[in-house]
Amino acid sequence: MSVNTMTSPHRTSVGAAAEALQRGALVAFATETVYGLGANARDGQAVARIFEAKGRPHFNPLIVHVLDVDAVEALVVLDDVGRALAAAFWPGPLTLVAQARPGNGIATLVTAGLDTLAVRVPRHPVARDLLAKANLPIAAPSANRSGRVSPTRALHVRAEFGDALAHVLDGGSSDEGLESTIVDVSGGHARVLRPGSITVEMIAEIVGGVVADLHEVGAEAVLKPTAPGQLASHYAPNACVRLNALAPRPGEGFLGFGPGMPSCGDGVVACQAINLSVTGDLQEAAANLFDALRTLDDMAIAAIAVMPIPDVGLGRAINDRLARAAAPRN
Ligand code: TXA
Ligand code: MG
Repeated sequence: MSVNTMTSPHRTSVGAAAEALQRGALVAFATETVYGLGANARDGQAVARIFEAKGRPHFNPLIVHVLDVDAVEALVVLDDVGRALAAAFWPGPLTLVAQARPGNGIATLVTAGLDTLAVRVPRHPVARDLLAKANLPIAAPSANRSGRVSPTRALHVRAEFGDALAHVLDGGSSDEGLESTIVDVSGGHARVLRPGSITVEMIAEIVGGVVADLHEVGAEAVLKPTAPGQLASHYAPNACVRLNALAPRPGEGFLGFGPGMPSCGDGVVACQAINLSVTGDLQEAAANLFDALRTLDDMAIAAIAVMPIPDVGLGRAINDRLARAAAPRN
């Protein structure tokens, strides 16, 4: 169904949805690929709600949606390859992964601590209307619960989330029906991470200078799509991580949670400590996690001791990330 033939049912609620986004709530909205579950990308706690709603047991980095290439360039650094692909395929079903611009204001939970950021300029009028009214970068994964297929109609979204989601912006069925093609341009050439309706051949036609490289890497990527959220290249602290610590040992940094966090520096040693959430709020803890790991890591301490985090709801995703950080390295 094309949006032009409808009586624009989204018009009545898009303003309210934009305000909800500004308040930190979640909004599901139509895009040309699949429906997205959006939050203000600058608000870590709002982004944490996405993971909570999806029931994701781990933090995948999310795609940030903006209105145009200027807005993209405020968030990431695009080189010639990135610019050429942007000019050819935006607005549309293409996501570019590029070096994040330092100080871009995007919550660290969006990138799950990576130095790169995935960005997309959608062409669907409902998505564009929402972006224009909210005047915010919108982080949005597909609007399905973890492990289920991506929704291409508003009723799929309602079936997934029921009344838990106040704002679902209906824009008819998604034209493409497939998630966007993801192309990593952070390494100076185009590398397809997820195939989509913009094909490797279409990309090769635009970035002629790196066709050989693209064909090689792209063809492999099409045969064997990578699951970027699971890549080992995910930010891992330099410091060793010790889990389920009730108190720090001498020389350790301390990552705490909740009101019962023992105070640091009692007795023999002073240590650096951060409480993920003094009140024991998992949403707040999720929003602070990657910042806290980086902050402790920047202090060049050898080890970070981490207090136990309840293994429920978002706590599972936090514990998954901490377990990866604590895993033996090679
Ligand atoms: O069509 C789409 O892309 C839809 C609509 C809503 O825009 N969104 C979507 O999001 O499919 P999601 O979260 O279901 O998939 C995002 C993918 C994940 O595989 C994630 O690992 C990857 O993008 N990704 C995000 N940031 C990345 C980064 N910095 N590096 C590599 N991969 C990244
Ligand atoms: Mg998805």
